[in-house]
Formats: sequence, C-alpha cells, structure tokens
Amino acid sequence: MKAVLLKEFGGVDQLYIGTTEDPDIGPNDVLVKVEASALNRADTLQRRGLYPPPPGASEIIGLEMSGVITQVGTSVTTKKIGDRVCGLLAGGGYAQYVSINEHLALPIPGGLDFLQAAAIPEVFLTAFQALVLLADLKEGERVLIHAGASGVGTAAIQLAKKIGASQIIVTASKGKHELCLSLGADHAIDYKSEDFESAVSDLTDGQGVDVVIDFLAASYFQKNINSMGFDGRMVMLALMGGVQVESLQISNILFKRLKIMGSTLRARSLDYKIDLAQSFYKMALPSFIDGSLSPIIDSVYDWSEVAAAHTFMEANKNAGKIILKIS
Ligand SMILES: NC(=O)c1ccc[n+]([C@@H]2O[C@H](COP(=O)([O-])OP(=O)(O)OC[C@H]3O[C@@H](n4cnc5c(N)ncnc54)[C@H](OP(=O)(O)O)[C@@H]3O)[C@@H](O)[C@H]2O)c1
Repeated sequence: MKAVLLKEFGGVDQLYIGTTEDPDIGPNDVLVKVEASALNRADTLQRRGLYPPPPGASEIIGLEMSGVITQVGTSVTTKKIGDRVCGLLAGGGYAQYVSINEHLALPIPGGLDFLQAAAIPEVFLTAFQALVLLADLKEGERVLIHAGASGVGTAAIQLAKKIGASQIIVTASKGKHELCLSLGADHAIDYKSEDFESAVSDLTDGQGVDVVIDFLAASYFQKNINSMGFDGRMVMLALMGGVQVESLQISNILFKRLKIMGSTLRARSLDYKIDLAQSFYKMALPSFIDGSLSPIIDSVYDWSEVAAAHTFMEANKNAGKIILKIS
C-alpha cells in the first residue's frame, strides 16, 4: 500500500508518499480502506522524532481515520465488509489501509461524510475522557477550556455545553473567538493581550471555575491553580507551555482542595480505549445525528500536500481540525 513515510526525523520536507507493507489483521481486527485521516499535534512531534509510537503500534503517523471495511478477522462478530467506520488509532492513519480492533471502529453517524467522520475520534474522545471521566464535570458547573479553538478545545466546548455547564470560558487568539462563541462558549479571553487569571476572576465574581482543561502545563500552572474554586479539578493534556515551573505558590491546592490530573490517550491500553470509545459513542451518537454535536473542520488537504498541512498546524493557524484526504 501507499502511506506517508519519513525519510528521517525532522522538518516537513522529510514527509513523502511511498510504498510499504499492508497492515496485518488479527482475529479481532478489521482492515479499513482509509478515505480520510486528520492531523494532531502529536503527528508533528512524531515527525520530529519527539513522540515515538507506543510498543506494537504502527510507525506510520496518524492517530485517527475514517473509511470502509474491506476485510474482517476470523473472530469479528460486530462488523462486516462494506461498513463505514471511523476510529482512534495508536498509529498508521496516514495510509491507504489500516487495521483496527472491531470494537474501536465506530460506525460513522448517519449523514456525516468521511471527511467529517475523520475529525471525530481523537479530539472528541480526548475531550470526553477529560471532562466526563476525569474531571467529572456536572451540570451547573463552570469550566475553563484553554486553546478553545484547537481540535480538542472545539470538542470540549460542545461537550461542556451538552453536559449543561453554567459558564464556559475559553482562551484563544482573537481571530478564533467567534468560532468558540458559536460552539457554545460564554466568554472568550484573548490570552495574548489579557491576563486570563484576572479575567476568570472577574467573569466568575471571584468564585473561580470548577474545572480547567489545560494544554499549556508549566506556563499556566500557577494561574490555573489560582483560577479554580473550591474542589476544583484540572486535567492536563499537553505540555505546550513547557515542563519546568520556576516558582510556585501551592497553598491553594490545599486550601481549595484541588485535584490535578494528567492523561495521554495514545498510551492507554486497548481495553481502556474500547471502553472509552463505546461509552462516548453511546452518549454522543444521537447528538451527532441531530446536529447538536458536530466535528469542526478548519481545512482539508489532499495527502500529497501533507507537508503544507503540518506547516499550517505548526503555525497555530487552524481553528478546528485539519483533514487529510487519502487516495
Ligand atoms: N493528552 C491527550 O490524550 C491528548 C490527546 C489529543 C491532543 N492532545 C494535545 O492537546 C493539544 C491540542 O491538540 P489539538 O490537536 O487540538 O491542537 P491544535 O488544533 O493544533 O490547536 C492548538 C492550539 O493551541 C492554541 N494555543 C497555543 N498557545 C496557547 C496559549 N498560550 N494559550 C491558549 N491557547 C494556545 C493555538 O491557537 P491560538 O491561535 O488560539 O493560540 C493552537 O492553534 C496538543 O498539544 C495535543 O498534543 C493531548
């Protein structure tokens, strides 16, 4: 099959479409002819050699896909050849074919095309896991979602709205505020010109938020702690703002009884991912059908333009997902 391969780790000029072996399928797997994949920040890190795939996963970049099943393993009972599916991968998405466990391959919600379906798995499962399973966001609570216009952020805003959060506050650069507000955010803070900690304090009458979804780590750690109210929970999903906090005042963790959690989805076990995907699907399927949840697509690139797509993401230009059309 053809796939996006790497000459060596490095810049976008290392990406090329070449020929490689077709994936093997196990008894519980299905083989999917990939129609679309989507970019994730992790892809750009993997390209640079900074994020190796977990043991046993494909070396090919790509954490999600949509397509059509062309072959089923000997023990598969829930899927058949011809089914349209999308799913989360530990790797291998930028390729013509990929193998995936039958229970991780989710039927594409009716009405969505392959490009839309490829925009669902990674960001919606990450946001669902963070807001629902880890932070336990409840109706009536306040949430602060950083990088509100990121792929994960756009999914998190919609899910927080669905859960019934009383106030959804996001950080994003100014040009992306309209999108965040249209998805259900109540307030968007331009983190480049405003101090988000004082903005959150003003917006919540000094109460702080119940839940923070964070991607910046070190650079926002103190301000995040200060922005939470009593019994606040923070889920850290990325390290975009560095890993070393120079100085920290931690008393609020104690006095406000805060919980600070971290998670990476890619390294989770297959069973965990299947449980996550199935619970998400049960909760979200009707909403994708009635349109109250929708994948947010910034742009679509043919996979021959994969280098341009990576450059676009690394320049922080996207609001929502960047899709790769595979042919
Ligand atoms: N832990 C996990 O399981 C997991 C799963 C999926 C993704 N992730 C991580 O989550 C992050 C988001 O992923 P994604 O694919 O959704 O990213 P994305 O679509 O590329 O969006 C990232 C956005 O972050 C915003 N940003 C940059 N600096 C910021 C700052 N200081 N404050 C607020 N926003 C800032 C930028 O938008 P602006 O123009 O608004 O600055 C940028 O477009 C990535 O680091 C990714 O690796 C983690």
